Amino acid sequence: MATISLSLLLLFFFSLLFASSPSSAGIVGVNYGRVANDLPSPSAVASLLESSGVSHVKLYDSDPAVLHALAGTGVSVTVALPNENLTAAALSPSFASLWVRQSVAAYLPSTRISAVAVGNEVFAVSNSTNNLTSSLVPAMLNILSALSDLGLDKTVKVSSPIALTALQASYPSSAGSFRPDIADSVMKPMLDLIRNTDSFLMVNAYPFFAYESNSDVISLDYALFRPNAGVVDAGTGLKYYSLLDAQLDAVFAAAGRLGFGDVKVSISETGWPSKGDEGETGAGVENAEAYNGNLVRRVLSGNAGTPMKPEADMDVYLFALFNENEKPGPTSERNYGLFYPNQEKVYEVDLALRGGGGGLKWQEARTSAAAGAGARGETWCVANAMAGKERLQRGLDYACGEGGADCGRIQPGKDCYDPATLEAHASFAFNSYYQKKGRLAGTCDFHGAAHVVTQSPKIGKCELPTRA
Ligand SMILES: *[C@@H]1O[C@H](CO)[C@@H](O)[C@H](O)[C@H]1NC(C)=O
Ligand SMILES: *[C@@H]1O[C@H](CO)[C@@H](O)[C@H](O)[C@H]1NC(C)=O
Ligand SMILES: *[C@@H]1O[C@H](CO)[C@@H](O)[C@H](O)[C@H]1NC(C)=O
Repeated sequence: MATISLSLLLLFFFSLLFASSPSSAGIVGVNYGRVANDLPSPSAVASLLESSGVSHVKLYDSDPAVLHALAGTGVSVTVALPNENLTAAALSPSFASLWVRQSVAAYLPSTRISAVAVGNEVFAVSNSTNNLTSSLVPAMLNILSALSDLGLDKTVKVSSPIALTALQASYPSSAGSFRPDIADSVMKPMLDLIRNTDSFLMVNAYPFFAYESNSDVISLDYALFRPNAGVVDAGTGLKYYSLLDAQLDAVFAAAGRLGFGDVKVSISETGWPSKGDEGETGAGVENAEAYNGNLVRRVLSGNAGTPMKPEADMDVYLFALFNENEKPGPTSERNYGLFYPNQEKVYEVDLALRGGGGGLKWQEARTSAAAGAGARGETWCVANAMAGKERLQRGLDYACGEGGADCGRIQPGKDCYDPATLEAHASFAFNSYYQKKGRLAGTCDFHGAAHVVTQSPKIGKCELPTRA
């Protein structure tokens, strides 16, 4: 009796320690950009989103045809007040009020509008002849108060996507700070608004840009969430295994410098081009597939925090849904799409990590995968080399010890011993534990050292089993 309760206690303790992550899964959304003359109709796009399991979409305007097409889909929508209308919204509360009525209220609740992006990369596009910077916060305040007048300010969040160029310093992450011309004058009141309304800072972050212009010093694996040696932040001693994490933590550090280290951040755009000009180092299908695929797995793993904010969820909106043939600039600009205009995939990315069905959040997907035992397609649990040796070893020790995973086959001389690497052995052990637990939510985590995959992993000659 005493033994049983002790092991129950231990099980409880270890499941707290390893299995159940404090954060739920983040959001994977897509940006529905329409700078193109060959895109499918909005209603075809609404179907495409649903059949791809996309639960969140961000627009660059509030086009009526698009908002009508999204009605009844359950897809959560971010609408945008374009830069062209920012000055009017800043100067005129009645313009803001009319805009909110026509672009938001008119579609609720059948179209699930959950946020307004006020302007886009305002500091980045402002120049001396057309400077929108000082209009930004007044426009946000007017939109907020228009929402509030209609009782919508709790359900519809107000924010504004900023480019990473809003940062004066971003390396190392702990040195992150906003440009001095916007820090106190714009970012401070904006972050104040965001905190007061329980909204989130929208950040457009592209590791591709950093890699492209510094490929001599930045490793491609580091940019693509692949196993790598990591980069230590000398300011904190924290080790980074992905460039996106480092970029995000630079934003957290910059917000922290202004006294807003607690505000939530959403990555309103990120992506990787599947094609580029000769000089655009890193652009290509393989890299785009790796970047987006690894990112989605990471976000949906439920353990997507950054080194500085390990408990935070990571919400990302991939850029973009389609290749957009009318975008100016280098070839890459027209090749960020997940889909061609004919709705064929540019490459394979499972946006919801599920075998079928639509619009499942990861938590639900995991639960039903466990309940339906393979009805939606099998899942496996593998080690995440980015977690580092220490976490992998701790997870392996736990899985093969108290966790009760079947680790016989990774012993010397047995069929799954080769390759004799920590990552391979951890994958075997994690998967065994996960399958034994009936693929229950949270049992493929090991403090971020593991994630779920939907394709049968083969490690050396050893195929990971689907059942304990
Ligand atoms: C936004 O600005 C554009 C360009 O100036 C204009 O054509 C459009 O009518 C404006 N939208 C609203 C709602 O006033
Ligand atoms: C300033 O920005 C506007 C709008 O983004 C653009 O049309 C214009 O060409 C820019 N002017 C200069 C001098 O760069
Ligand atoms: C735009 O205006 C802000 C002040 O409102 C100023 O700090 C900034 O330097 C201006 N930007 C440009 C490019 O002129």
